[in-house]
Amino acid sequence: MFPIGVFDSGYGGLTVLKEFVRVLPEYDFVYLGDNARTPYGTRSFDVVYRYTKEAVHALFELGCPLVILACNTASAKALRSIQQRDLPLSDPGRRVLGVIRPSVEAIGKLSANRHVGILATAGTVASGSYPLEIEKLYGLGNYTVTQVACPLWVPLVESNELTGPGVEYFVRKYVDGLFEQDPQIDTVILGCTHYPLLAPQIARFLPVGVQLVEQGAIVAGSLKEYLSRHAEMDAVLGKSGRHTFLTTENAGQFAQMASLFMDAPVSVRQISL
Ligand code: DGL
Repeated sequence: MFPIGVFDSGYGGLTVLKEFVRVLPEYDFVYLGDNARTPYGTRSFDVVYRYTKEAVHALFELGCPLVILACNTASAKALRSIQQRDLPLSDPGRRVLGVIRPSVEAIGKLSANRHVGILATAGTVASGSYPLEIEKLYGLGNYTVTQVACPLWVPLVESNELTGPGVEYFVRKYVDGLFEQDPQIDTVILGCTHYPLLAPQIARFLPVGVQLVEQGAIVAGSLKEYLSRHAEMDAVLGKSGRHTFLTTENAGQFAQMASLFMDAPVSVRQISL
């Protein structure tokens, strides 16, 4: 019996893991944060693809038959190549899923006026993955999608800088930039798994009535549904409620942050990719 692998460039994917554990408490999970090489959001397609492939490979080596890229940047820049090119050749029985498609599926139920804002890393914005997926699912021209890249937010979260005047300045800068481009937006998607940690600050600067959407619960619901539809995958997944944490950086530092996220002490092992 094997764990579900959960991958992010750093701590951000813990916001997704936390929801996985809430929705699927009996399942075993192994989380890998590539903290040594974060952020991914400013890196090229080739580099994000290579790093993500290495991380997925490490999780496969640990036996994971299913890996969730709990990272929008990796989902935007590496998922398709891994799913279409790599898995059929090297690991046809394993699956890798991302966070963008489930988030886009949720948008239909969330936005009333079809004006959607996406706050994400520079890489996710440049990939055009959100507007492209929205167009694919809902048709051309049915949604007005405005994206703003927030390159300073991941470094703030990775350094646990979540409040204070400096944080407020950079939160406000990107939120204002979004609404300057489209004041009609009624739904803002946090299209980076690090951003929920800044959600209380972000919410303060949103116009009244605008809803702020975090991905964790959406992706967890989608994983649960996936497992109910794929009995052959579910049958090989461990269900002892065991959680393992791996990082490519210092284990002690990761343990401190991860314990805060998970509301419980966690033990962490450092690995290299
Ligand atoms: N947490 C990631 C995301 O969802 C990536 C952040 C980064 O490394 O830049 O996009």
